[in-house]
Amino acid sequence: MRTCTTVAQLQLTLDAQRAKGKKIAFVPTMGNLHEGHLSLVRKAKALGDYVVVSIFVNPLQFGEGEDLDNYPRTLAADKAQLFSEGTDAVFIPTVAEMYPRGMRTQTQVRVPELSETLCGSSRPGHFDGVTTVVTKLFNMVKPDIAVFGEKDFQQLSIIRKMVDDLCMGIEIVGVPTARASDGLALSSRNGYLSDENRAIAPELHSVINDCKAAIGSGFDNFLQLESHARLRLLAAGFEPDYFAIRDARTLSNVTDQTEEIAILAAARLGPTRLIDNTRFNLATHSEWRLLAAQD
Ligand code: PAJ
Repeated sequence: MRTCTTVAQLQLTLDAQRAKGKKIAFVPTMGNLHEGHLSLVRKAKALGDYVVVSIFVNPLQFGEGEDLDNYPRTLAADKAQLFSEGTDAVFIPTVAEMYPRGMRTQTQVRVPELSETLCGSSRPGHFDGVTTVVTKLFNMVKPDIAVFGEKDFQQLSIIRKMVDDLCMGIEIVGVPTARASDGLALSSRNGYLSDENRAIAPELHSVINDCKAAIGSGFDNFLQLESHARLRLLAAGFEPDYFAIRDARTLSNVTDQTEEIAILAAARLGPTRLIDNTRFNLATHSEWRLLAAQD
């Protein structure tokens, strides 16, 4: 496994592979790798000939007072895991390598609307930091394929739109959320949870699942479902940020045109902010359409 820390090294390495006709599959990460990240690497291996993983804790996507300084950095363990998965190259740039002229004057990439709702409204500027760094990484790696997790469903939707709007010509592949055995979505931030909060955390997944089941059984008052879910989260000890039933394609409210629903939630447990989501096809999941048509 080749380790590159500069853009020049990375491009030399990748140009050689491209010249051999290799299809490059890319997995961007912020490190502290867990089974969720590794499932992305496996997908990249299955789809591409040469797998590149980046590890970069991107300051541009952290807001004032967020956990940039405390974000877990476990480089040696990350590299060992990537090596055992058969990763071909890992790119680990410094902040100075990524932003040589500083961050304040860095050209930004922004996806309007989609980046302003849900996590975007509680973390202003967060997704601009994500789309800017992912664009830079895409331009450095020039991948054929890039793999992202459905765990961050809004992020995945924003990246898909950006790639489409800017004609980047990269195939974006989504991978289902990897979970602990009790249902909690794996996340680098789970390490911040106290034992007590770790025991409560899977409730986020349960509340989302129960909401999905209620829709499946024909319950179509979404406002009521959302507020019931928020109350359940509060009762469990969370501080809910949002709980939203949305059109999975647009992340806007559900309409007559909606084919697929996404239920997305973010909630704080102590100092830790957790997010989770589920997605399902209305026609196959439920009698909802049928019942709605009878109203
Ligand atoms: P990070 O949080 O490290 O996540 C890297 C990738 O792993 C993302 O695509 C994320 O959706 C995916 N991932 C995280 N937890 C997962 C899980 N439990 N199951 C499946 N996939 C999971 O997301 C970022 O970093 C950054 O915003 C980044 C895209 C690298 C830009 O800085």
